[in-house]
Amino acid sequence: MNQQATGKSSEGGSGVGPALSDAEFELFRRLIYDTAGISMAPSKKALISGRLSKRLRDLGYATFREYFQWIDKSKDAAALRERQNAIDHLTTNETYFFREPRHFEFVEQRLIPHWAGRSVRLWSAASSSGEEAYTLAMVMEKHHRGGWEIVGTDISTRVVAAATRGQYPLARANNIPREHLKNFCLKGVGEHNGTFRIDSRLRRKVSFRPANLREDLSAVGMCDLIMLRNVLIYFDMDVKKKVVANVLRQLKPGGCLMVGHAESLHGVTSEVKPVQPATYIKEAK
Ligand SMILES: C[S@@+](CC[C@H](N)C(=O)[O-])C[C@H]1O[C@@H](n2cnc3c(N)ncnc32)[C@H](O)[C@@H]1O
Repeated sequence: MNQQATGKSSEGGSGVGPALSDAEFELFRRLIYDTAGISMAPSKKALISGRLSKRLRDLGYATFREYFQWIDKSKDAAALRERQNAIDHLTTNETYFFREPRHFEFVEQRLIPHWAGRSVRLWSAASSSGEEAYTLAMVMEKHHRGGWEIVGTDISTRVVAAATRGQYPLARANNIPREHLKNFCLKGVGEHNGTFRIDSRLRRKVSFRPANLREDLSAVGMCDLIMLRNVLIYFDMDVKKKVVANVLRQLKPGGCLMVGHAESLHGVTSEVKPVQPATYIKEAK
């Protein structure tokens, strides 16, 4: 089982950790594809090796294969936790406030007037550390007259925990309009210096939980708007079709689906109709 790290690879690598062989890369590539649907090109080998080598070192594994076999085969709680940890390390979580601002303009100018007076439920379906959901929350709190609730989900439990905290380095506040910063963000003091936190008034209406887009998503409930942005790019056509069909089951007829502007639903689904770039409406049946 656990061996002390030797600092030398049994496969001939040198330096701070073991080298990742092509066969070992294939084991992790398969794991992330089978679990999350994420396709990893061979060019991602250095990325996998970089992200996981510290875990190997910390846990005392001499090779990637031994580490993989432990998280893949063992059913003990520590191995299951570490499997989730490995998945967390293999996802790419880049996100920021007011990313792709045309979507938030569409929410303000087209959706909110349409929702006037109604209670709505919105879903950030690959929410990462929460910036997308809280951006939406700022727009809703300022403009929507009526109840609203936002749920954020992600396969990575690490980012779900960060999103729930809703606390970010001050540098992340760059894209947030001054007025929203003033109204919805609290500057950290003392030990929280250099950070800001989303006001509890917004955090109360935004909740986060882990969810895999390939699995049953009915616990999310039915939604008026779903943001499924900058996650489809990691999927092949087969996974994209399944994920989009799965997600659309939670979209009310007449509801809105947004994907990233670099993503396309061409050939993926005929359940929604485009209304502007990367923005779709589900036809009422
Ligand atoms: C690049 S981030 C996008 C964040 C945000 N939607 C945005 O556009 O800024 C992609 C997120 O998708 C998540 N993800 C990848 N595969 C997933 C899956 N099968 N189920 C749920 N989340 C997934 C990753 O963990 C990551 O946090």
